[in-house]
Amino acid sequence: MYEDDGGGHAVNGTQRPGSVCPMPSLAPHTASVPPSGIRRIFDLAGELDDVIALAIGEPDVPVAEHILAAGARAFMADVTDYTPNGGIPQLRQAIVEKLARENSLTVDLEQVWVTVGATQALHQAMGLLLDAGDEILVPDPGYTTFSMSARMAGATPVPYSLRPDSGFAPSIDELDRLVTDRTRVIIVNTPSNPLGSVLDADQLRELLAFARRHDLWVLSDEVYEYFTYGTPHVSIASLDDDDRVFSAFSLSKTYAMTGVRVGYLVTPPGMAPIMRTVQEASISCVTSPAQLAAIAAITGDHQHVADAREHYRGNLEAACAVLDERGIHYLRPNGAFYLWIDMQHATQGDVAGWTEAFLLRERVSVAPGSAFGRAGEGWIRVCVAADRADVIEGLRRLPAPHGTIA
Ligand SMILES: Cc1ncc(COP(=O)(O)O)c(C=O)c1O
Repeated sequence: MYEDDGGGHAVNGTQRPGSVCPMPSLAPHTASVPPSGIRRIFDLAGELDDVIALAIGEPDVPVAEHILAAGARAFMADVTDYTPNGGIPQLRQAIVEKLARENSLTVDLEQVWVTVGATQALHQAMGLLLDAGDEILVPDPGYTTFSMSARMAGATPVPYSLRPDSGFAPSIDELDRLVTDRTRVIIVNTPSNPLGSVLDADQLRELLAFARRHDLWVLSDEVYEYFTYGTPHVSIASLDDDDRVFSAFSLSKTYAMTGVRVGYLVTPPGMAPIMRTVQEASISCVTSPAQLAAIAAITGDHQHVADAREHYRGNLEAACAVLDERGIHYLRPNGAFYLWIDMQHATQGDVAGWTEAFLLRERVSVAPGSAFGRAGEGWIRVCVAADRADVIEGLRRLPAPHGTIA
């Protein structure tokens, strides 16, 4: 029995409270879509004053002037019509050139589909690749939306673990064991949210060989591609020689324009007719001024992106120094802008409850690791895309393990 959704509709044949008429039920698979485990902390933090907010992956740097100006100019010039489903040709062309330059990916314009952030790119890809009852391998810990979108497609997300004892890298042996005759897709996310780990070319080749062996699609999430510190970002599609990779990219984090909602999906060749149809059915197209802002972002000066990377790198170094000094165990990240911190000494098997209590007591919001999958129990994710002094102060308020300097 599912609960009432609180919005007036009965779920699964129950009756709306106070109503004499039975209401139609929602599709059963909607009840299996997991809620976001970060939302609770976000809402609670919103009710409190003086909170150091380190829970949400929101860049703290401003959007570059030339990007804002292009969006504003587009609105003022009334560039407000529908665009082609795949995006404005000039934007798709700019993306084709960027992919060749930055990702060693040679693709045709018709393989590039401008989407409402990477969120819709991932959702669209899962809608194309998954049928009800299919299985998709998702990283654990991994970005929450991977499982949500899979469930929306009626499919079952099957977690593959990224654990400290294997250096947080996927284990091909474990992956081999998880494959069933329903498995259709594996999601690969590098740089990883929440871990900040970056997979190198050899690891990506192994994952591709695994996908080939079991004839799986690969869905690659490269939202943090511009933020790596040491290990260079490699696009798995650039190593793919049999067209099994779909790649989701985003402008959200790179250009700090999360609310503008522009990303893109790069498909294997030959998908244009079906992509045109599913784009038409789901969004028609991305907001036209947002697309013009995206052209300015991709083709414009990138010094501000390099500056943002240095800001995040500096924050990560400062944060690691605090954790080292306090004897708190964590994964040293080489990508994205998160720290994955071991809090097992304080959380007693309930990190979600602990992050709430910590927020109420210390006025610091952090994301519970359990929001990213079972393997995240006992861990927290701290976003360092914030003022450096706040990051340092927030980490100073974390409890240190017994026997270490607090
Ligand atoms: C790994 C990962 N993929 C996708 C997204 C969604 O990004 P977008 O704003 O492009 O929809 C996020 C946002 O936090 C993310 O961390």
